[in-house]
Amino acid sequence: MITLTINGKEVQTPEGSTILEACQQAGIPVPTLCYDPDLRLAGSCRMCLVEIKGRPLYAASCVAPAENGIIVETESPGIVAARKVILELLSARHNFNCQVCEKNGNCKLQDYCYQYGVKESRFNYGEPTNYPINDPNPFFERDYNKCIMCTRCVRACEDITIARAISVDNRGHHAKIATAFDGNLTDSPCVFCGQCVMVCPTGALTSKVSAGLGRSYEVDKVLTTCSYCGTGCTLE
Ligand code: FES
Repeated sequence: MITLTINGKEVQTPEGSTILEACQQAGIPVPTLCYDPDLRLAGSCRMCLVEIKGRPLYAASCVAPAENGIIVETESPGIVAARKVILELLSARHNFNCQVCEKNGNCKLQDYCYQYGVKESRFNYGEPTNYPINDPNPFFERDYNKCIMCTRCVRACEDITIARAISVDNRGHHAKIATAFDGNLTDSPCVFCGQCVMVCPTGALTSKVSAGLGRSYEVDKVLTTCSYCGTGCTLE
């Protein structure tokens, strides 16, 4: 075990843990967007930045190793200011029509913008993205005007389903998630398992099957048995 100090509290964690894991073990919340414990690490969104005393740069806690004796601050004024800018950058091409979004009330981006008081982005230059959203499949709606490029869907498709139906297309400001040749999902190796929809932290990927049937805070979750492939997995 190693010992580090987080927000003034001594925390013990197994060697090899990340700073984020140490925070979680100590019950200290750190915001995350690209991180998912079931997926390979990406360290791309930077929402989980923390300050390590004596180091000039903030560290992405989901990929930074916990080290013996370090002193970590998760909500210092500098970290809060950095997270606000990060939210503005992540939202730069995000369509903020939350009131009609299927994920309203169950969206990590919305939660963090509310928590950090981010109402708009200085970086969108007044040009909303206008990606088409009509993918003629019966299950998923893909609205990349709400995508923040966390790549959780790509990693879920590659590592859990092993379908590799989607990947990152283009680079920089024009980067987006796409199938090969940017075609429809029905023409790709997608098996419509729903993993990508389950891990998406925003309204970029939603279910057409449950659309309009109730907000997340209006419906109760129950355990059920999936009959998709015959294995009989139990799901919420
Ligand atoms: Fe750590 Fe995205 S959650 S970089």
